[in-house]
Amino acid sequence: MDKSFPLTGWGSLAVHGGHIQDPMYAHQVPIYASSTYVFDTAEQGMRRFSGEEEGYIYSRWGNPTMHEAEEKIAALETFGLNKEVKGILHASGMAAISTLMLATLKPGDKIITHFSLYGGTDELVTKILPGFGITAIIADLRDLQKASDLIQSDPAIRMMYLETPANPTIQCVDLDELSKLARSHGLLVACDNTFATPFLQQPFRYSIDFVVHSTTKFLNGHGTAIGGILLGSDIDFMKTKCTKVHRLLGGNANPFDAFLLIQGMKTLELRMERHCHNAMEVAKFLVAHPAVAKVNYTGLASHSDHHTAKKQMRHPGAMLSFELKEGLQGGIDFMNKLKMCVRTVSLGTCDTLLSHPASMTHYSVPKEEKEKYGITDGLIRMNVGIENLQDIINDLKQAAP
Ligand SMILES: Cc1ncc(COP(=O)(O)O)c(C=O)c1O
Repeated sequence: MDKSFPLTGWGSLAVHGGHIQDPMYAHQVPIYASSTYVFDTAEQGMRRFSGEEEGYIYSRWGNPTMHEAEEKIAALETFGLNKEVKGILHASGMAAISTLMLATLKPGDKIITHFSLYGGTDELVTKILPGFGITAIIADLRDLQKASDLIQSDPAIRMMYLETPANPTIQCVDLDELSKLARSHGLLVACDNTFATPFLQQPFRYSIDFVVHSTTKFLNGHGTAIGGILLGSDIDFMKTKCTKVHRLLGGNANPFDAFLLIQGMKTLELRMERHCHNAMEVAKFLVAHPAVAKVNYTGLASHSDHHTAKKQMRHPGAMLSFELKEGLQGGIDFMNKLKMCVRTVSLGTCDTLLSHPASMTHYSVPKEEKEKYGITDGLIRMNVGIENLQDIINDLKQAAP
């Protein structure tokens, strides 16, 4: 595409963004399955290693297929913002989050974060980072006064880490207010944008310093590859410290997964529109269902975070959860009766996925601990897919008669 041609739509950018014309004129980006890159001369090798000349050296450090994915996501996260960010593709969302933490924090530093977080991130900050002298303050960051009091009372807090909407509760925190608060105290702010995707929400709009994704989910969209990305607005810091930590930890992506991710992202806008439309209708159906005690979906005016979601998201998203009145056994029976929707724990794929935390992911977690996070025995988490709505509803109807 001619770079001087201004794209006016997000969907066009999702198709064309980041693409570099292949020197062999392949239409699609090739899978550069090469661990190393050759130098014309020893002097060129010297220039590449010293950074004097741009170019690939070794695929743990960078690779053309991976670079195209990085550029596409960076373009989508900043569409319409007049801002430059740099992305570094990783082997997984957790690898990207690990690079972020180890590049920005040192012993004695603290992270402040909301209590609802993806389980892996929660374990990283509560079980692994303390071994390196980095600890976490976990609070309900929807309470801005409390967040402010905590930050003021502890000068060791160095970073605010947000995830909105959060896994698994779908709770939302206010990016604008929290970012302002954090910056007024000199904190770094990071946001996990996995559930929203840059189509629904752009954290860089609120001067967030770092955005992370598990690209495994909606960005890939087809459940075909694990991946992650760390994006940052301090280009110099991204090119120096973050690049160094990424290269040395070895959590690099690979060209095949990057290729799948690039193909998936081209349809992100179309998929998200259909996901979101279906999710709203499924939420309305569940609200009226006699076997359902409660529906957690920020698109419903009854949800406590409805206004926050509305303020910062284009649509409320594809994820929801609901509580069956019949508790644990009700949840197990419901899951076993599903005929089209899929029983699995991930999210972000074209097909509708359901999980029952009490019998699956949180089976061994003590009841009081689960309930603290709103995970009741009859809770079902749902990634509403892009199938025809009536088929999703028909399956739910026959599973929860
Ligand atoms: C919100 C969120 N962030 C991060 C991760 C970790 O991503 P990955 O599994 O790609 O390492 C997940 C995984 O489910 C997630 O849901």
